Amino acid sequence: MSKNAEALAAQIKGAAGDAPVRLGLILGSGLGHIADEVDGVAIPYGDLPGFPHAGVSGHNPNLLIGDLEGVRVAVFGGRAHYYESGRGDAMRLPLEVLRALGADMMIATNAAGSMRDDMPTGSIMCLSDHINFSGLNPLIGEPTDARFVPMKDAYDPDIRKDLRAAAAAAKVEMADGVYAWYSGPSFETPAEIKAIKMLGADAVGMSTVPEVILARFLGLKAAAISTITNMAAGMSDEAISHEHTKAMAPVGAAKLEKVLRGYLCGLR
Ligand code: HPA
Repeated sequence: MSKNAEALAAQIKGAAGDAPVRLGLILGSGLGHIADEVDGVAIPYGDLPGFPHAGVSGHNPNLLIGDLEGVRVAVFGGRAHYYESGRGDAMRLPLEVLRALGADMMIATNAAGSMRDDMPTGSIMCLSDHINFSGLNPLIGEPTDARFVPMKDAYDPDIRKDLRAAAAAAKVEMADGVYAWYSGPSFETPAEIKAIKMLGADAVGMSTVPEVILARFLGLKAAAISTITNMAAGMSDEAISHEHTKAMAPVGAAKLEKVLRGYLCGLR
């Protein structure tokens, strides 16, 4: 753990109290309203030295510490993407801070394009695995042997089982699938989508994979849920744009929130 992360954790505890955080939630594009449901203290990233700028529209760069369904959570309203800075490890410090606040798990959410007809716009998908199609890795440059992180079961099987149970209890349909990471910021071509579909990917997006690698590196259990905001390029005539992503994210977000709330209730 870096000294910077320890210092930031102390600063955050000074503002939000000492009680340990149970888990971290990273919110994807257009999914920020979950942060409004948390009863707690919001700290702008700008007040946390070293935190990323996280300036993508549809994100809210605050760290929120508080209770959701009676569980103490840290909600990262803004995530930094590789495509903003060219840095794959932009979320390393926030995740180190999460660990220093006492959490042992992280759940990432994202907006994604679907390559499956049974996963239309507005549906949600629990990630079972990923394909790092960007060729980048947030641990490049890490000097210790800890960089050789095993990635089997990176998406924690127990958390996934509990998320599935929460979805069933809430009568929310949630698919299981493989997420492919494209660096962005341009969207994929239809040929690229055809290729990753053949390779076994079910959904595509520009985030989450670096965070999951970093989380595993830091000893945090990880899980992730996508809201499908569009059919991927070439899969339909649907528009693909960031505006469309932000407009469509709330459709799946309501389902995602039900699943998360149910999961948190089970943690109490
Ligand atoms: N591709 C990449 N990222 C995305 C998409 C997509 O189709 N939809 C939402 N985020």
